[in-house]
Order: sequence, then structure tokens, then C-alpha cells
Amino acid sequence: MTNIVAMVNLKGGVGKTALAVNFADHCARNGLKTLLVDLDPQTNATFSAMGVDEWDEHKDNNGTVADLLGARDHKTADGERKTVADVLVKNLLGGFDLVPSHLDLFTVDLDLAGKPNREGRLKKALKSVLDQYDIVVCDCPPNLTIPTQNAIAAATHYVVPVSPDFLSAIGIALLKSRIADFCDDLDHEIELGGIVLSRVGRPARKRTETIASIRGSFDGEVLDNQLTERVKVAEAAEEARSVHTMGDREAKDEFNSVSAELLQRIGIET
Ligand SMILES: Nc1ncnc2c1ncn2[C@@H]1O[C@H](COP(=O)(O)OP(=O)(O)OP(=O)(O)O)[C@@H](O)[C@H]1O
Ligand SMILES: [Mg+2]
Repeated sequence: MTNIVAMVNLKGGVGKTALAVNFADHCARNGLKTLLVDLDPQTNATFSAMGVDEWDEHKDNNGTVADLLGARDHKTADGERKTVADVLVKNLLGGFDLVPSHLDLFTVDLDLAGKPNREGRLKKALKSVLDQYDIVVCDCPPNLTIPTQNAIAAATHYVVPVSPDFLSAIGIALLKSRIADFCDDLDHEIELGGIVLSRVGRPARKRTETIASIRGSFDGEVLDNQLTERVKVAEAAEEARSVHTMGDREAKDEFNSVSAELLQRIGIET
């Protein structure tokens, strides 16, 4: 069975996209056939992996995740709905494939109001390509709207990156209970792959206490390895490169360690 991992947090700017892109990159570099799905209308994962001009041409000719969810409902020349195979971009960064995103996803909740199977569309679309991948990584927006719901409904695991400041920390329990309720309603099983402390070292009041409190409250669920705030991580995203290639040994080692620990928790061998 292909594992599908959703990076989720209601809080913005906690490092979901940085982890999604560099985890996908790590998986690909370690021989796993990897698909990254960008479900965020901000398109940050997309532009962390490919250039804007390349994306512009691709979205016009091939489509994006917005077509898969039915936000645009663009069809192929034969009048068929777009498939994952139509919209994906092959072999980016360390060798993963990408389903790029589109700003049109911002209105998908309204576009799909009243339509059937609103939250099950990604799961349905992925079926046709799942046998070609060992792992699918979904990058989600900082909310629980339709794009995130589609990721959770498709996912075998969810991962919660958390930046250790007070406001980020208080949302974890709420997020876990919302996801549990949602999956219960859908009769869908999902496991917490782990909570990842991310952007550690960013100025925040009571940082050390917050980290200790998160580790204490979610004992066993927080990864031993964590991600430090480092300039090269942000630069990698701006330059559409992976942290692996940025020449920052410590940043590279941290992303490798977190990724390896996640794979181990999820139960995937490389
Ligand atoms: N470890 C890090 N060190 C330095 N900068 C980082 C690190 N992780 C992420 N960033 C930067 O911080 C910003 C927010 O990170 P990122 O986009 O990964 O967060 P996010 O949770 O996906 O945000 P959003 O909720 O808006 O999607 C980006 O500019 C990113 O490049
Ligand atoms: Mg993001």
C-alpha cells in the first residue's frame, strides 16, 4: 500500500511547506518513487520546486491540482476530466514528481458547494497513479478547508510541523481532535506520523519552556529530531532548490534526520 502523508497545521508559517518539499526530496534521493501534491492556493511548494515561467506554461497546457479537485473543471481535448497523469510535473529537485497548485483553489470551497464527494476528490484522482509511487506527500494550507480535507481524506498519515511559540503550541490538541472527528465522520483511518518541532531558534517568548511543554504534552508523538531556523532553508525555497544542495551541512543533516525518522515512524524502509 502506498503511504500518503499530509503536512497539516492550522497555523501559518510553521514550516509545513519546507518540510513537505524537503521530505519529498529526501524520499526521492533515497530511491522512493515520490509524488508531492501542493494543495495550498499560495502555491509555495510548487514554487519551491519549479520556476514561475515553467509553471505558467504548465498550468495552461496541463492543468493543476485545481482541475483535479474540480475548482476549474478544465477538460482534456477529448472532453475527459483531467487526471493526475495529465497535471503532474516529472522529476523535480532530487527526483520527485509534483502535482502543482493554482490560486484558483482559494475559491474551491464555494465552487464545490453542493457538489458530491467534495472532500474525496483527491483520493479518487490519486487511485490511477498510486501503484507508481512508494509515497505521496501532500502540502496543505494553514486551515481545514476543502483542500486540506481532501489531503486528510486521502492520507494514511498526517504530520504536524510546529514552531515552538505559545500560539502555535496551543493549537495542536485542537487540530488532533478536529482531524479525529473529521475522519470518524468519513469512516477513514489515519495515523499521526508525528509532530515535528520546526523553525526552532526563531525569537519567541519562553521558547525553551514551550518546547518542553510540547514534548511533555505529546510524549512519544514528537520526533526526537527537530529543524532549526537557518537562512539556507529559506533561501532554498526562494531559489527552487532543496536544502540538500545548499551547502549548509547542518541544515542538510537536520532535514535528513527528521525525514529518516518520519519514514521510520510511518514504516517505510529505504
Ligand atoms: N528551518 C527554517 N529556517 C529558516 N527559514 C525557514 C525554515 N522553515 C521554513 N522557513 C521559511 O519560513 C517561511 C514559512 O515557512 P513555510 O512556508 O515552510 O511555512 P508554512 O507552514 O508552509 O506556511 P503557510 O502556512 O503559509 O503555508 C518561509 O519563508 C520558509 O522559507
Ligand atoms: Mg505552506
